[in-house]
Amino acid sequence: MGKDVIVACDFATAEQVFTFLDQFTDRKPFVKIGMELFYAEGPAIVREIKRRGHKIFLDLKLHDIPNTVRKSMAVLSGLDVDMTNLHAAGTIPMMQAALEGLTRPDGTRPLLIAVTQLTSTDQATMERDLLINEPIDQVVMHYAANAQKAGLDGVVCSPLEAGKVHQTCGDAFVTVTPGVRFADGDVGDQKRVMTPAQAKEVGSDYIVVGRPITAAADPVAAYRRCVEEFCD
Ligand code: C5P
Repeated sequence: MGKDVIVACDFATAEQVFTFLDQFTDRKPFVKIGMELFYAEGPAIVREIKRRGHKIFLDLKLHDIPNTVRKSMAVLSGLDVDMTNLHAAGTIPMMQAALEGLTRPDGTRPLLIAVTQLTSTDQATMERDLLINEPIDQVVMHYAANAQKAGLDGVVCSPLEAGKVHQTCGDAFVTVTPGVRFADGDVGDQKRVMTPAQAKEVGSDYIVVGRPITAAADPVAAYRRCVEEFCD
């Protein structure tokens, strides 16, 4: 699995994202497009960023009945994204339907990654609101195993969970890890963080980095630093 740095382009408009991406004239970063930008600008933003030569992780976290997810994934696959995702809570039949929808007539498809429990959900909230009483790390590993059973490629998880996911699901099962900060940088609202070098050490396959790059005085230098620490 080729390690790569994915830049979370959490901008509200196309203009802002293009101003940001225009700075990268050398290596074109793998870009994460989330709900805010996608809902604001629509599929045209995906086509344009792709046309500019970037790989794309379309982070829309689908969760609906299998038939709806199958048909929606077919549309996303047609946008030629490289990676997309869904909620493992949608269950194995939904994840299998997603894979069917995502697979193009020539047999190729984007990587499909599952969200297990959102990092905004803690043990107390999960018990109170979802009536799930198992320890949250077991729930996360169970959802990861379900994603693997359904044929998915991996999960989004904290870098602190990447090693355990690989132990449970094998090294080929991809871990995509946000919550990355430089050793000398601001942590912001992320609670459990690792540096790019530590994320590499614990076996993350892709790190997702937002503000340490997008809010840096020199975003290209910050991106290069991530690549040097994580990929090289
Ligand atoms: O700016 P920052 O590096 O914190 O950005 C991390 C990105 O990863 C954001 O787009 C955030 O929504 C996303 N993310 C996360 N934690 C998760 C799942 C996604 O931080 N568990």
